[in-house]
Amino acid sequence: MTRGHLQIVVCAAGPAADVTRLIDAATKQAWTTAVTATPSALDFLDAEAIEQQTGHSVRSTYRSSPGTRRSLPTADALIIAPATYNSVNKIALGIADNYAMITIAELIGRQVPTVVVPFVNAALATRAPFQRAVANLRDERIRVILGTDDGWEPHPPGSGNSRQRAFPWTAAFEAATRMAGDLPASSTDRG
Ligand SMILES: Cc1cc2nc3c(=O)[nH]c(=O)nc-3n(C[C@H](O)[C@H](O)[C@H](O)COP(=O)(O)O)c2cc1C
Repeated sequence: MTRGHLQIVVCAAGPAADVTRLIDAATKQAWTTAVTATPSALDFLDAEAIEQQTGHSVRSTYRSSPGTRRSLPTADALIIAPATYNSVNKIALGIADNYAMITIAELIGRQVPTVVVPFVNAALATRAPFQRAVANLRDERIRVILGTDDGWEPHPPGSGNSRQRAFPWTAAFEAATRMAGDLPASSTDRG
């Protein structure tokens, strides 16, 4: 029996390669998952491995792969991770110029509990458009995991590779399930 369905949207940054960790965490808690990728994110992930894990092909366009079902289960929660500078700004503005963006816009509009985990360096994070975007998303009751209180700070430019391993996949899943009203078994792992 499933406790819920998690829709994951992956953007084009290093931690995309580790989204399998989020799928693992969700599967262990009896959640089903499916992954949508921005067009640029496809180069960062192993679509075949994700398909094996989730049972769904990775979507990045309006077309589904031959032999797969067009419709996905109804989402009980949405996690956008890693969220790039580019996509955070677009989501906040409501821009829907690819399949991932229109999916996000619609799920947020349907009030699906949503968690965003940016992976941006400190130079990008100081930009006014990004700071406004994060504030606007929070105003829409979207949980943005970023800042001292979340233990997840932008990294110095050029240090993304070493920061990738610390990406807070488990914290993202716990936040999403909490918002969806499903408390997972306790976990102290923030990674
Ligand atoms: C190797 C590589 C690593 C990147 N890492 C990041 C990153 O950590 N954070 C980020 O915001 N953008 C990063 N970018 C830039 C994004 O991939 C780029 O802005 C892209 O347009 C984002 O597309 P998306 O938001 O549609 O996924 C990286 C690009 C490359 C080629």
